[in-house]
Amino acid sequence: MACEARLTVQAIIKGCPEVFDGVKSLVNVGGGTGTALSLLVKAFPWIRGINFDLPHVVAVAPKSAIPEDKGKLIIVEAVLEEDKEVDKLGFLGLMLDMAMMAHTDKGKERTLKEWSYVLRQSGFTRFNVKPIRAMGDMEVTINEEVRAEIKTWNYVFGYAKIAAVKCAIELGIVDVIENYGSPMPLSELATALRCEPSRLHRIMRFMVHDGIFKQEPINQHTVGFSSTPLSRRLIKGGEKSMADFILLMSSPTCLAPWHSLSARVLETGNNISPFEVANGKDLWSYTEANPDFRELLHNSMGCKARLAVQATIEGYPEVFDGVESLVDVGGGNGTALSLFVKAFPWIRGINFDVPHIVAVAAKSDGIENVGGDMFMSIPNADAAFLMWVLHDWDDEECIKILKKCREAIPEDKGKVIIVEVVLEEDKEGDELGAARLMLDTAMMVITNKGRERTLKEWSYVLRQSGFTRFNVKPIRAVESVIEAYP
Ligand SMILES: C[S@@+](CC[C@H](N)C(=O)[O-])C[C@H]1O[C@@H](n2cnc3c(N)ncnc32)[C@H](O)[C@@H]1O
Repeated sequence: MACEARLTVQAIIKGCPEVFDGVKSLVNVGGGTGTALSLLVKAFPWIRGINFDLPHVVAVAPKSAIPEDKGKLIIVEAVLEEDKEVDKLGFLGLMLDMAMMAHTDKGKERTLKEWSYVLRQSGFTRFNVKPIRAMGDMEVTINEEVRAEIKTWNYVFGYAKIAAVKCAIELGIVDVIENYGSPMPLSELATALRCEPSRLHRIMRFMVHDGIFKQEPINQHTVGFSSTPLSRRLIKGGEKSMADFILLMSSPTCLAPWHSLSARVLETGNNISPFEVANGKDLWSYTEANPDFRELLHNSMGCKARLAVQATIEGYPEVFDGVESLVDVGGGNGTALSLFVKAFPWIRGINFDVPHIVAVAAKSDGIENVGGDMFMSIPNADAAFLMWVLHDWDDEECIKILKKCREAIPEDKGKVIIVEVVLEEDKEGDELGAARLMLDTAMMVITNKGRERTLKEWSYVLRQSGFTRFNVKPIRAVESVIEAYP
């Protein structure tokens, strides 16, 4: 609060000092430990200040600030402007509103209309609003300082986005709006989902601003919500759905480890992954012991597998030329392999994973499920396929797995097909670049020694595993296709 107060008070002192003209005493209602008031009294030394808050708060406040009231009420808060387009500072107000919903009993940020209501109901006859160079200032030129301010607020309330999206998935907001068939009014959405309308309105306002839903006129007086390509990706079971992946990464099991990231980075830190610190077991032991988590993990792997497989089929179908049998090493529930076999029906597939995973994998025509340990031995096939497997392990472990793959494929015409991220640190204008780096950070948090790799790092592990040549084909996905030959 003190950090935020310093920034805002500075903005008031610079942006509208006249607000204190004629004010000799000022009471700061809910003034906390008095940071704002002490800065104001320093800037306007004729003001006598009264810092007013709950007794246990003022008990620990420094004793310097001493204000009092005289005739006007000065409120420093966000003023939401719902219809203003492409307003980055305004969006921060909406994030703050999400935080109010999560952290307070009944708190909220308010629009001008809502401020007008509470002020008039409190007996104030007139009021005016002065934007300052803080969250309320919508007209400010975007320069580096402002960009820094926007980014900082995004770090402060960044979780509001994932929380709102999780809420949209869990409550089925995305499904109900998609199935409605025309713009859906808030009242009907609230009834259909049995939600409290004003809170639902606030969540929807936030998501409309973030581009998840569109707001469209129904008639002269009413607007309704419609789906977008983005909201369709949040529908469970949808063609390009990432819903399960979002639910996985926003689950307490996967969020808690992030608190140990700094400990992980320290030279003196131990070798236990943040996941294990938070959950008592490493990812794979935890997955084996918790069937619900296992199902969510494999459903979310299925989500992103569908996208990567589609991108491979569209972007590089030649990778399967001459491949009559394919072993998917660490193939999980078999989603990827079943899609490949459907697209290239001449391929005989072997879905290979640890026994407790293949035991619950779907049974498909043309696919044999085989349980085992990829560090020990891998079933023979023309080609070995690995997607999102090698990034779970360090170089030494990858080399062991790749050597086993090499043993499983024919020396003359065999190959290993890897679908993984290839980091390109300096590439400009790469829209998925940030996602790849985030995934690398996630590997540091969730796995023991996993990581995403640059081209040079891939070259190292492939050559050390005995592959003489390899090529990389970018596809329309976070991953690329790497083909490596003995
Ligand atoms: C991140 S998941 C990827 C699943 C799938 N390839 C995909 O992209 O959707 C990694 C897979 O490796 C499997 N795995 C882990 N250790 C293994 C081992 N020793 N032998 C075989 N599979 C293993 C896990 O069970 C899991 O299904």
